[in-house]
Amino acid sequence: MSSSTLGKRTRQSTVTLTPGSRARSVSVSPSKRVCSPKKENVAPVTPTKNGRITNVFSAGKATVSLAKKPATPTLRTPTTPTVASPYTPIKTLFRRSAAPTALTARDTERDFLKKWIKERVEGGKSGSMYVSGPPGTGKSAVLSSICTEMKKEEEGVKVVELNCMALNRVEEVYTAIANAINPDAASTEDGLRKEFEKQACLVVLDEIDHLAEKEEVLYAIYSLPHHPKSRLLLVGIANALDLTDRVVPRLRAKGVEPELVQFRPYKAEEIKEIILAKLGSLKEESEGAGLGEVMQPAAVTLLAKKVAASTGDLRKALDLCRRAIELVESEAKRAPLLPTQDQQTGVKKVTVAHIARISASAFGTSTAQRLKTLNLQQKAVLCALCVSKSQTVGKLYESYTKLCKRDRMISPLGSSEFRDVVGSLEGCGVVNLGGAGVGGGGGNSPVKKGKGGDEDLRVGLGVPEVEVVVAVGDVGALKRFFD
Ligand SMILES: Nc1ncnc2c1ncn2[C@@H]1O[C@H](COP(=O)(O)OP(=O)(O)O)[C@@H](O)[C@H]1O
Ligand SMILES: [Mg+2]
Repeated sequence: MSSSTLGKRTRQSTVTLTPGSRARSVSVSPSKRVCSPKKENVAPVTPTKNGRITNVFSAGKATVSLAKKPATPTLRTPTTPTVASPYTPIKTLFRRSAAPTALTARDTERDFLKKWIKERVEGGKSGSMYVSGPPGTGKSAVLSSICTEMKKEEEGVKVVELNCMALNRVEEVYTAIANAINPDAASTEDGLRKEFEKQACLVVLDEIDHLAEKEEVLYAIYSLPHHPKSRLLLVGIANALDLTDRVVPRLRAKGVEPELVQFRPYKAEEIKEIILAKLGSLKEESEGAGLGEVMQPAAVTLLAKKVAASTGDLRKALDLCRRAIELVESEAKRAPLLPTQDQQTGVKKVTVAHIARISASAFGTSTAQRLKTLNLQQKAVLCALCVSKSQTVGKLYESYTKLCKRDRMISPLGSSEFRDVVGSLEGCGVVNLGGAGVGGGGGNSPVKKGKGGDEDLRVGLGVPEVEVVVAVGDVGALKRFFD
């Protein structure tokens, strides 16, 4: 197949590996899925400058349920007098450790890999695959979902999933594989080869980067399917993209070149789709309690765009969702500091403003940059905090008002607007709020509420004072605060 043909988008797909010669022709056609509402964009086969063939996909749109029992963040009925936070199931949903509820926007890669595996299983052939892509692009999740399905659908196939992080030597890899396939098997290369002749095996080695520094280890592993009677399907997963260029040519030079599939970072619309699908699952779980709408669509769009513009790492997007929920939860605890409670569900919604606040610190903006983008009132409150060393929100409001009135350069805000500003400063990570303040009884006792809100809530500077002084250096009205 010529390079020019490979570069084009094609509809037909075959991946053939001839044992022995390893001759290969690759083109890809994403199989049609009933559940896919849109035609997929597939740029499946990209010849590299080395003439190497890489399957690179742009993700499709359909959603595929995982065979694994999904995480079931349920609304628990409290059995103790402690009232469960309505935000808990939402935060659980976005935890890194949460099992994925569904795989969205990775149909093309998933179907291609599954077909590749199934064809070889059914044809009694062996094969090797090298899956690469930046972190958080769904590689582990996709392979894990395929393994789960294979265990159910193909009883005659042994499925082994291993993480290589804890493995260093090739003997350790052999032992781990042998233990998973047949504890009686000899954990040597020969012993494993015999096992792979007896039955079809799918071995998925995640985080194979860890082994990639040791060339001989990778060579030994990728040699395993290269045996006339082998029925081993080996899939290695790597996060480091540069490894593909370093590792694969070496494997090719030794005659054990694997097929390649590359996962691209998620695009903004895919990230949005995934988050909405996750929230949708919550909606089903909570039987219409409205928790699934806890994030305003515009807020999800902004978050997705910000993550896509940085790395496209879905883990970051999910972390940010959780942080946004935590921010809203902490605001709700301080109500009526920022009262915009959803009447029906009792939960406040994540808005664009929340996303803007958390993303300032999340995307590594320096303190100086964060301070620079604050508006005049935000800076005035910060300066009042530096000058007065107030320890509670109530005291800070008094100091701030006094300073504004003294210099008559800035009109002081009303009490509730002031609290909004304090809340926004917390969101930017430049002030810390929390716990009962000096007048509130200390510890975690309920915060004593003043008439305007949490008078006694403790407040402290979250950045070095000198940075604040520098940031207001050119604002005359604020410099006077320090006189
Ligand atoms: N397409 C997807 N739909 C839903 N959740 C996903 C999807 N892709 C990844 N995830 C979730 O995002 C997180 C990171 O994905 P992961 O597969 O670990 O990425 P990688 O292995 O590429 O670093 C996991 O929690 C995973 O469940
Ligand atoms: Mg992974």
